[in-house]
Amino acid sequence: MSETGVADERPWADPALPKEERAALLLDAMTPEEKVGQLHQVANPDPHRDAAALAAAEFGTCIVASGEHAGNVRDAGTQAAAVNALQRAAVETSRLGVPLLVARDVIHGHRTVFPVPLGQAAGFDAQIVRDCARVAAREATADGIRWTFAPMLDVAQDPRWGRVAESWGEDAWLASHLGSAAVAGFQDGGRLAGPEAMAACAKHYVGYGLAQGGRDYAEVDVGPVTLHNRHLRPFRAAVDAGVATVMSAFHTLDGTPMTAHVPLLRDHLRGELGFTGPVVSDWDAVGELRQHGLATGTRDAAALALRAGVDIDMVSGAYHEHLTGLVRSGTVPAALVDEAAYRVLLLKLRLGLFEDPYTDPGRPAAVHLTADHRALARRAAAGAVVLLRNDGVLPLTEPRRLHVTGALATASAELLGTWTLDGRAEDVVTIADAFRERYAGAVVTVDDGRFPDESLVRAREADVVVACVGEHPVRSGEANSVTSLEPPPGQVEQLTALARVSRRLVVVVLTGRPLALERLADVGEALVLVFHPGVEGGHGVVDVLTGDVPPSGRLPASLPWTTGQVPLHHDQRPTGRPLDPDGTVGRYRDHRDTPQYPFGHGLGYSPVSYEGVLLSAAELGPGETVRASARVTNTGSRPVLETVQLYVRAHLAAISRPVSELVGVRRVPLAPGESAEVVFEVDRRTLSYRDAAGRERCEAGPFTVRIAPHAGGGVTTRLRVTDEAPGPT
Ligand code: BGC
Repeated sequence: MSETGVADERPWADPALPKEERAALLLDAMTPEEKVGQLHQVANPDPHRDAAALAAAEFGTCIVASGEHAGNVRDAGTQAAAVNALQRAAVETSRLGVPLLVARDVIHGHRTVFPVPLGQAAGFDAQIVRDCARVAAREATADGIRWTFAPMLDVAQDPRWGRVAESWGEDAWLASHLGSAAVAGFQDGGRLAGPEAMAACAKHYVGYGLAQGGRDYAEVDVGPVTLHNRHLRPFRAAVDAGVATVMSAFHTLDGTPMTAHVPLLRDHLRGELGFTGPVVSDWDAVGELRQHGLATGTRDAAALALRAGVDIDMVSGAYHEHLTGLVRSGTVPAALVDEAAYRVLLLKLRLGLFEDPYTDPGRPAAVHLTADHRALARRAAAGAVVLLRNDGVLPLTEPRRLHVTGALATASAELLGTWTLDGRAEDVVTIADAFRERYAGAVVTVDDGRFPDESLVRAREADVVVACVGEHPVRSGEANSVTSLEPPPGQVEQLTALARVSRRLVVVVLTGRPLALERLADVGEALVLVFHPGVEGGHGVVDVLTGDVPPSGRLPASLPWTTGQVPLHHDQRPTGRPLDPDGTVGRYRDHRDTPQYPFGHGLGYSPVSYEGVLLSAAELGPGETVRASARVTNTGSRPVLETVQLYVRAHLAAISRPVSELVGVRRVPLAPGESAEVVFEVDRRTLSYRDAAGRERCEAGPFTVRIAPHAGGGVTTRLRVTDEAPGPT
């Protein structure tokens, strides 16, 4: 290195030095403008149009995506050559040659699109979530993208909110478990410097899932106990899993915009959780401090956001315009800019960008949509299929004549779901095509239901009808809230008419959100729910309907009977006046209090019985672990993959604790007649919660331990925690 003089001129370029030291050396070499440049993220820069800005290192990171469309419209796709050209301009024309950090929303796949996160959540399977994120990273990094704005960790308990599609559902344990798996997948288990790893981003910090009335971006009001135990929990898990970045959310929380929230960003995230990576604002959210009424202009907005701990300003331009002046005038301490720039530089070093800023332009063709990636997408899609009701029609036996109908029967791009910027319609296997392939010897008639009279005639002639209805993907996702959770207008009527003429009717609802399916309660002989399943959606759905793959999807969110019941989630707190145990008489005059299908519900093709719960000890002392087990038996004639769920309830604590808390899941394959002992370990950590002061607690007292097929059932026993000593910290 000394031969070229690089080590002398650019000591930070020496890969032998610790990365922290390299970041500090580089920071020392920077002008105030160059430091601020690292905190300025622009959208879709162009190496020619933005040549001067690139040479001046005016921005250190960029997002390749249009925030105006917020994931609702696919763009032309990423091009490795374009990203390389941009990177070359940054590295070769700027004074210090600092590479760019190129970001894009790689949410549930890149070219190979997997089920939407809510669909992946229905698998209750951390390994497949990790594998999908790994493949997404392999494909996106081939295009030069090294930073994704995923996973979304918002606990979504109001399905009117369209972004529920991007979530892991209503439960904080599930969001923590699956969100951490996604982080591990994107970041290749922490081997960030590998060319196939990308920085993940835990978003949207925090409480966004509580947007009032399900209206996107709306205000949030939540108390500290619920915030800590439900909404902050997946972020804690992601920080523990080593997530590289965090995104602050758009909304106000108890009146303070998250972009300016000192107690939650600086004190909690940095101070308490010890998060050391960069925090990025959401799209234009620094500028939006004006609309929230906290800043009169972008100058004040920049000062508020940086002070709160937002390191990178996504596209508002407020940092770029004002931070240098704010430091010069003493309004903002220079140390805050230094800290933030250091974090960005350190991340770039951890990603190995200084050693290898480019991507091989041949890589996309070699890694995009390979047979292996498709096979994973097919497994993930099948795993996301939730069998809600089956009156014996499923699994299908090879029919003589099958009619496949409904708006989503021949849909291609629509199976991909929201936020699929690099997915392509022509890659998608439709449900109709998958049936044609599987039942090559049968007559398969297909239509999209546009002419219902024609469709009814074909339905009448068929042995079995599969009707695929549901939501268009832009009905869910960002900025797409609804006031009614009913299937879109006309679909129930269409299905009811089909049911009248069909010998056997299977209703498949494909959706981006939990829907209220009361009006389909008795329509057809089977009801199947699939959250937008991705590029291999057709195969995945057909694999399950034909019984080639046992149905194993479970609801990651309760399905209400009707919209007026929401928010309705399994982990509600008890009231002082418990409900009538059969749930028929309750607080609504006009309906039940319970959901149509509870959280965790999903049938297989054979019934499974539960016996137990047996405990290795009836009491749990400090430092001890109790084993809780149940015997589960496949009492039918077909194989099942049973998702066995562990729930607890604390009956005595300093706060009122939920009636049902999910704390563990085991997926158990069972051959016909096979039985297995399913064992969970329970310790103080499993049972503890955080009190209002942020202390981890587990008071002495009785707990119910429940091992169950879903949140509304199962077998139970009592466990007693013996001592009052504070729980684990
Ligand atoms: C969304 C984020 C996303 C960002 C960048 C925003 O509108 O809220 O989730 O990462 O845009 O595309």
